[in-house]
Amino acid sequence: MNMHKFYIDTPIYYPNADLHLGHAYTSVLADIFRRYHEGKGEETFLLTGTDENASKVAKAALAAGKDPLVFAGEKAESFKEFFTALDVGYSDFIRTTDKKKHWPGVTEFWKRFDAAGDIYKKSYTGLYCVGCEEFKTDKDLVDGICLLHNTKAEELSEENYFFRLSKYTQAIKQKIESDELCIVPVARKNEVLALLGEGLEDISFSRPAKKPLWGIPVPGDESQVMYVWCDALTNYTNGVGFMWDDALFEKWWPTDLQLLGKDILRFHAAVWPAMLLSAGLPLAKTIFAHGFVTSGGKKMSKSIGNVIDPRELIAEYGVDAVRYYIAREFSHFDDGDLTREKFKEAYNANLANGLGNLTSRIMKMATSYIEKPIETRGDAHYRFADYEKAMTEYRVNDAANIVWEAIGELDKEIQETEPFKLFKTNPEKAREIVHGLVVGLSKIVPMLGPIMPATAAKIASAIKNHEMPAPLFLRK
Ligand code: MSP
Repeated sequence: MNMHKFYIDTPIYYPNADLHLGHAYTSVLADIFRRYHEGKGEETFLLTGTDENASKVAKAALAAGKDPLVFAGEKAESFKEFFTALDVGYSDFIRTTDKKKHWPGVTEFWKRFDAAGDIYKKSYTGLYCVGCEEFKTDKDLVDGICLLHNTKAEELSEENYFFRLSKYTQAIKQKIESDELCIVPVARKNEVLALLGEGLEDISFSRPAKKPLWGIPVPGDESQVMYVWCDALTNYTNGVGFMWDDALFEKWWPTDLQLLGKDILRFHAAVWPAMLLSAGLPLAKTIFAHGFVTSGGKKMSKSIGNVIDPRELIAEYGVDAVRYYIAREFSHFDDGDLTREKFKEAYNANLANGLGNLTSRIMKMATSYIEKPIETRGDAHYRFADYEKAMTEYRVNDAANIVWEAIGELDKEIQETEPFKLFKTNPEKAREIVHGLVVGLSKIVPMLGPIMPATAAKIASAIKNHEMPAPLFLRK
């Protein structure tokens, strides 16, 4: 096993509407882990992309009067800009309409399912929620309404190909129980185990092809297209070379960490593992299913109408402030609320007067009173072990709290020792203290980097160049 590489994937996003802070949440967390592993000297791969073959994408294109492929392509470009604005560094961006990278893998999966005897035809009537792109059972609905989307599920009667999901119940259960497939947090793992305890039901894996044709045709039966989740989940293998670059696939598969919201855990913890088992491929190692960003107590979503565009916050507070909020102000194992007022409060309390001030104060004393550049290389901060433990246990906000505790300690040290006063009476001692403060500040940098990369880089460069840093947070 190569210990020096780490493959992370995010869900692929539906390009039917603009992304909002709920989506930024998944991707920023993924990027924090990516940067953390990079910082440890590992080679990383972060895969993200767009889930284009969904009927809701075709519907949105129709409503916009555009060809679905053109429409999805424009959205995909805007998603790339969205991630760049958030400083999310992805290694590749896969589109499920990509016939070179995505389609050969999906087709191969289907053939392997078929060869394993896991595909059969059956007619089916059910209630379908287009928002979820999923058939619902009565217990998922209240008066026929899907509460996640506030819309009525439509009755659909179809003849489809089914996948023998039920066959894999025991195998998946055993892998999750033994943590061979690790699900974080444990409450989510237990939810999945409870679901597996009831036994999985076979799942419809295709839909009758309608005109205009949208979706990936079923191999050998062009009258059907694959169910969008069947094709979407395979992006994780296809994005790292499955059926188009063997060496790439060999290098990166299986995924070390799958980041996703709790709403789509069932697909990733039951359906995807079964597909991989059926196709004879290893399973992902860890799934981290985070809670929702709520706004005013409700899941942030376009259909509810309570979305916040992180780009507005970036324009006002800077990208690192948004990343800070996502990392520290949410407890990722549960839901967490965000409103513009809460954001402003957190900014004023922890960023506007905290880290920026501290860095300026320390570096001002250093540049005023210490001549030569300060040697800061040395052991990591003594809290680094706790930080690492938090990160490896996916407790990002605990890791962020450790950084802010370290910042608080430096603040306290300045208050207690008052080196700026001491310079008049005992310059030697004052210099020693300031030296220690600069070293302390430098030790915060590697812990801060994954969360606030631009700020960490500014602090590092201020220390390296022995100068006052440029303003750390720019309110535009
Ligand atoms: N296309 C599917 C995923 C297919 S993966 C093979 C999908 N897309 S999505 O665009 O609806 O959501 C993508 C991610 O954003 C999911 O992890 C989802 O949980 C996350 N979020 C969307 N809104 C969210 C919040 N309000 N809060 C936190 N995350 C949420 O599902």
